[in-house]
Amino acid sequence: MQTITSVLEMQILAEDLRSKGQIIGLVPTMGALHEGHVSLIKLAAEQADTVVVSIFVNPTQFGPSEDFSKYPRSLEADVAVCEAAGVDIVFAPTAEEIYPKGYSTFVVEEFIAKPLEGVSRPVHFRGVTTVVAKLFNIVRPDLAVFGQKDAQQVAVIKKMVEDLHFTVDVVVAPTLREPDGLAMSSRNRYLSATQRIEALVIHRALRKAIEMVASGERRVDRLVAEATHLIGLHRRVRMIYVSIVDRTTMVAIKGEVVPGKAVMVIAAWVDEVRLIDNEVL
Ligand code: PAJ
Repeated sequence: MQTITSVLEMQILAEDLRSKGQIIGLVPTMGALHEGHVSLIKLAAEQADTVVVSIFVNPTQFGPSEDFSKYPRSLEADVAVCEAAGVDIVFAPTAEEIYPKGYSTFVVEEFIAKPLEGVSRPVHFRGVTTVVAKLFNIVRPDLAVFGQKDAQQVAVIKKMVEDLHFTVDVVVAPTLREPDGLAMSSRNRYLSATQRIEALVIHRALRKAIEMVASGERRVDRLVAEATHLIGLHRRVRMIYVSIVDRTTMVAIKGEVVPGKAVMVIAAWVDEVRLIDNEVL
């Protein structure tokens, strides 16, 4: 396995691999790798000859009051995880390589990125689309794998790929969960034992909605009300949003859900830790 920090070196290597007919699969990450990330790597390896994992805590996707400076950084451990997972290339550039002094170009998706996460985190998706577009230009992957855990991120990136004529195939991996249902996340390591137990209500609320749909309930207001009620029973958990949206456009569904097309998305604070999760209904 090779670890590369220079943009130019990564571009030259990727170009060389492409000229040899290698299918390149990219897994973009911010490091602090867990089993969820590993599942993305495994999916990439099934479809690509060469797997590139990028590790870059992207400053532009964090708002001024967010956790950029304290976001977990563990490059050495992450490199070991990649090595064990059979990754071919780790691309771990510095912030100066990606955003040199005077940097001034951004990629903005203006529709899907607006609601939900876009309301609470107004600069977030602008940072995500910018860095992902840059990674696509640097690595020139045939396919890139993203997790359903970040449903709106998937929808925004798919739209960017379509709108900007990227030739990358966007592959979506299912959400990996802890045995008790908590969606794996780099931010879970901020949770104390008590907070972690409280956080389980987020997935319980999603499961409840799935069960209600399975027993015939289709009314969006009923499904949202039940999930909101469950979350409200937990003192440490403060709901940011509970919404049922179209999984492609992220537009809120009014009236009744059509099973398979709708996704329930939840964001909540567990004390000072912000968590998101979702399930297709
Ligand atoms: P990060 O939070 O490190 O996540 C990297 C990828 O792992 C994303 O596609 C995310 O959806 C996926 N992922 C996270 N938890 C998962 C889980 N429990 N199961 C399956 N997949 C999971 O998302 C980002 O980084 C950044 O925004 C990035 C796309 C790298 C741009 O900076």
